[in-house]
Amino acid sequence: METDMADSSFTRAQLIDKLNEDLAREYQAIIAYVVYSQVLKGAQFMAIAKELEAHAKEELQHALKVSRHIDYLGGMPTATAKAVKLTDSAEEMLREDLNNENETVRNYRERVRQCESLGEYGIAEDIREILRQEQEHQIDLATALGEDVPDVSKPKKAGAAR
Ligand SMILES: [Fe+2]
Ligand SMILES: [Fe+2]
Repeated sequence: METDMADSSFTRAQLIDKLNEDLAREYQAIIAYVVYSQVLKGAQFMAIAKELEAHAKEELQHALKVSRHIDYLGGMPTATAKAVKLTDSAEEMLREDLNNENETVRNYRERVRQCESLGEYGIAEDIREILRQEQEHQIDLATALGEDVPDVSKPKKAGAAR
């Protein structure tokens, strides 16, 4: 089966690199949710602060799963997180989280296709489960911001605003 995203020249080494990018994003998510869940102030943000605390724990589970698959493929899991933006503004924190979740969803959808193009159906299955939770995170954040979940089904153009 050919799709425009799953190109047949995609290699196992490239999958390891891509999973390490996913892992760096999971670390970023853990850190952001740990910090933001504790510093969000204001009665209107109490419910979402609790949600963010729950997200932090789910992101740790994702990081563990992704690391296991990197090791399974013969790679070394990265120890470096993507940078987390610090801000005093609750809206900016939620916006940052939503942007990062959008980016994560976009990437995991691509990753499922790439895993399947390599016959790595077990890894694809785990990533589908992670993806389902990331979509829940998107919903929680978009709801807190009073918005609909953005459509991230189109691949992002290089350099385009997210
Ligand atoms: Fe995650
Ligand atoms: Fe997430």
